[in-house]
Amino acid sequence: MSQNQALFERAQRSIPGGVNSPVRAFRAVGGTPRFIKRGEGAYIIDAEGKRYIDYIGSWGPMILGHGHPAVLEAVQKAALDGFSFGAPTEREIELAEEIIKLVPSIEQVRLVSSGTEATMSAIRLARGATGRSKFIKFEGCYHGHTDALLVKAGSGLATFGHPTSAGVPAEVAQHTLVLEYNNVAQLEEAFALHGKELACVIIEPIAGNMNFVRAAVPFVKRLRELCSEHGALLVFDEVMTGFRVGLASAQGHYAKLLPGFKPDVSVFGKVIGGGMPLAAFGASREIMKQLAPLGPVYQAGTLSGNPVATACGLATLREIQKPGFYEALGARTRQLVDGLAAVAMDNGVPFSVDCEGGMFGFFLMPELPQNYQTVMKTDGARFNAFFHGMLDGGVYLAPALYEAGFVSAAHSEADIQATLQAARTALR
Ligand SMILES: Cc1ncc(COP(=O)(O)O)c(C=O)c1O
Repeated sequence: MSQNQALFERAQRSIPGGVNSPVRAFRAVGGTPRFIKRGEGAYIIDAEGKRYIDYIGSWGPMILGHGHPAVLEAVQKAALDGFSFGAPTEREIELAEEIIKLVPSIEQVRLVSSGTEATMSAIRLARGATGRSKFIKFEGCYHGHTDALLVKAGSGLATFGHPTSAGVPAEVAQHTLVLEYNNVAQLEEAFALHGKELACVIIEPIAGNMNFVRAAVPFVKRLRELCSEHGALLVFDEVMTGFRVGLASAQGHYAKLLPGFKPDVSVFGKVIGGGMPLAAFGASREIMKQLAPLGPVYQAGTLSGNPVATACGLATLREIQKPGFYEALGARTRQLVDGLAAVAMDNGVPFSVDCEGGMFGFFLMPELPQNYQTVMKTDGARFNAFFHGMLDGGVYLAPALYEAGFVSAAHSEADIQATLQAARTALR
């Protein structure tokens, strides 16, 4: 039995399914999850000492690669000063100031420990600020595992959602309206029916939890208009896209295409923690003043703004602001996806790709999908064979077809060439 298999068997005795987050179990693709011993730049090394080119990057945070010297130094220094105080620290202000400086839609920010906590708090804030209960989310967007967000579509626009997880009471899902991503007509209809009851609309502006699907510009434009007309807040969940698709995040990308565009509330995670448990939500001062201790919306956390996590996040945010960072990252990512598309074409495999900054998606279908239903039409068996072929070839892709991929600043030209060589073998 391999070391990975032995560890997986042992893990399953003490941890449900052997993992602390379901996708790690390789259920979608089959086979044995790799137990990772350490990371080094663009690579992760498993329990058997096998090295993989890492295109997961801890599902987004590791934009500088593993063990970046400046980040390591900041974390080591912070750890020596103490792990947690439950009292304010200067670094929390510095990180808040850094985020506010980079994201023009935000005047104030609250730090929390996970993306789930941040989106949950953003919804509560929107409900508190508007005095309304209902909200819209889109099929295929994941916003963490809060009860009211684990909801699938009801049978029509007049009916609200149903829980997708056991343990979520139907009553909790009754305020969540689930719509199709990129469907303007459905959005207009939903606002016509429920506009005055909506606290907010939450969206992944580039959805990374159904592989990689962009919100179309006319869709975002109409969404912004409808929210403003009806007094509902537009919540951009940038846990994945934040500082990943560009220094101005996805909202900066849409602001370039729709001058003046801003969401009302923004949620960040992943990159802002650089691999440590840290996330945030922010908005205008007017909205944020609703939060305790200023206002009536309660929100708190023992480890919120943790000193070691903020050191890690700050060091990461400083590195990504160096001149040329995103140009180089974007070019490397583009080289990867264009290379993969060319290999697929040589092998007669239907394939489409997209990327922005250091985030990418590829689909085993000739055209880029626009919504979840289309993504799920991907040939799963073919994807799984490709995934395992790449894994055997030393390339670690996301173990499910509905996940985005991530390139870091540590990925070199040689890493991309090695990846394409593995793809040639895997697709043959
Ligand atoms: C867009 C988005 N929102 C929220 C979350 C939840 O974040 P976390 O896993 O840190 O709770 C994720 C996690 O992948 C995400 O991708």
